[in-house]
This record gives sequence, C-alpha cells and structure tokens, in this order.
Amino acid sequence: MSDKPLVVLTNHLPSAVQKEMESNWNLIQVEGGGRNLLQVLADNPSVRGLIAFLSEPVGREELAAAPDLMILANYAVGYNNIDVAAAMERGVWVTHTPDVLTDATADQTLALLLAVARRVVEGDRLMRRGGFRGWASDLMLGRELSGTVMGIVGMGRIGTAVARRAEAFGMRVVYHSRSRKHDLEAARGYTYMSFDELIKNSDVVSLHLPYSPELHHLVNERTLASMRSGAILINVARGPLVDESALARSLAYRSIGGAGLDVYEFEPRVNSLLTTLDNVVLAPHTGSATHRARTRMARMVEESISAALGGTLPPHLVPEWRSREEVR
Ligand code: GLV
Ligand code: GLV
Repeated sequence: MSDKPLVVLTNHLPSAVQKEMESNWNLIQVEGGGRNLLQVLADNPSVRGLIAFLSEPVGREELAAAPDLMILANYAVGYNNIDVAAAMERGVWVTHTPDVLTDATADQTLALLLAVARRVVEGDRLMRRGGFRGWASDLMLGRELSGTVMGIVGMGRIGTAVARRAEAFGMRVVYHSRSRKHDLEAARGYTYMSFDELIKNSDVVSLHLPYSPELHHLVNERTLASMRSGAILINVARGPLVDESALARSLAYRSIGGAGLDVYEFEPRVNSLLTTLDNVVLAPHTGSATHRARTRMARMVEESISAALGGTLPPHLVPEWRSREEVR
C-alpha cells in the first residue's frame, strides 16, 4: 500500500494529466459509477478526493461512504449531479471547471444552430444514401441568421460568449437572466426581456443556464406553443430544462421550426420520436469536448485536489462554497 492520498476517479481524463495525477496520488479508477462507486468507497474508506463527472450523481449515500473525503472535484461547469448542501454539511469542498469550456460550448451552440438552419446533417445524410441528383434551385432551402432575433436564456459566461458570436452573424440579441446586465445592454445593445416575452419574440431560443429543480421543464408544451412558428430551440445546457417529449411533438407537427440538442432529459437515452425527425440535430453531450477545454478542465481538477489535500483552500470552488468562505 502506498502512503499517497487516495483519490477516486469515475471516468477518464486526458492521459497526460491523468499520468501526473497517478504519480502524485494513489488514483483508483472506477468504471461505470453508480453501485460500483459506492462499493469502491465502502472498500476504501480512506478516500480523500473524488473526481466526479456529470453523468454521476454524488449524494448523501456516497458522502456517508467516504468519511475522510476532503474534496469532490466535478469535471464540468454544471454540478447539478452533486448534492452540494450534503457536501457542505460534512465540510467536503466542491469544485467545478468554469471559464475554460466557455468558448468550446459557445462554438458548439453555433455549430448546432447553423447545422439546423442550413440543414447540414440532413444534406450529409442525403449525400451518403446517394440521393443527390445534381444542383436544384429548391434543394434543401434553409434559413439565414442575419436579421433574426437570438434569444439567450441565461446570460452568464457561456450566454455572453454565444451573444458575441450571434452578433457576428448579424443577429439581434435579446436575453433573459436572473440579473440584468446593464453593462452589456449599454455596450452591445442587447435587450432584456422577461422569459415569456423572449419566448414569443425570438427566432432562436438558446439555453445557457444551470439546471436546478425549480427550472425543471422550463421549456414545456406551453412554452413551445408560444414560440414563433419556424423558431429554433438550442439546448447545450442540461436536458431536464426541456420537456423532451413535448419538444418532439412540436417538431413533428412543425409547430416550431427546428432544434439543436447537445443534452437530453434522460441521458444517455433520447426520445425515439426525435431520432426520426429531420428538423433536429442531435449531438452526444459534446459541448466542452475539445482537446483544449478538456485538458484545461483536468488541470483545474488537479489544482483543486492538490490544494485541498495540501490543506489549503482549493481554487475553483462552486459559488455556494465560495460565499461561505467569504463570510469567514
Ligand atoms: C457540461 O455539460 C458541463 O457542465 O461542463
Ligand atoms: C458558465 O461558465 C456560465 O456561467 O455560463
């Protein structure tokens, strides 16, 4: 047995960073998570650090199985997979990876939007099945972004990065957010709207807010019914923000124009009606999946765990923890 601190990992990290971790810590990799993670924690009660992934819920049961745990480092910006209140009660730090995946996720948003508006994936499918019969004046006509209204729900780091890209495509930006961004309104001419107003007035509705139970099915049958006909919904945030079967119906009946999805209500499952529709583009939760973002995310996890195990305040704490530290 080594006397290095025990750290558990439930997925893979970029190999260069993982190798470094292996030389500093006694790293145990658990495949699959779930019961498996609980079993590993039960067998290794001296675990000090846990690297968690968004596909992996970590709640009271897991925390209770790891009495020596000092830090839970989530390899994602969103951390709705973690029971932060339970971790805080036990004094376990919770960290995440903001900022470094902002550009990657904003790029993915535009990739999905353009793919839907210009029917890129549908065209690719046509080519592959030998369906292209030559140039035709009415083949796969799509929509232009220029002059349309981009409605951003959640004007945080990612929402702001998406807004800048939308501007570059000639879109007018409207937004809804918990807090008004008077600086952006003044400097960039963005317009604040209530959620309902935004839904009615946008050609594209793009979600960039973290998931919490109060936001479950923020986009539901009623919301979808009040969207513009032809509107496009983009979700690169979290699946349960959208009622996926209501969305599939709206797309099937062409009550809205299209959707680009990176996340799903019941990942990794996807609504089967959705998979039959040409006006939706589906990505496998790859918003932050660039070499650069994933490597930087892994470095942040490494920094956070090293600090915590070394007895200092870890960087990259989630906001709930940060505000507790600030009042100390
Ligand atoms: C990705 O979904 C993340 O929250 O980092
Ligand atoms: C993520 O970084 C966000 O706050 O939007």
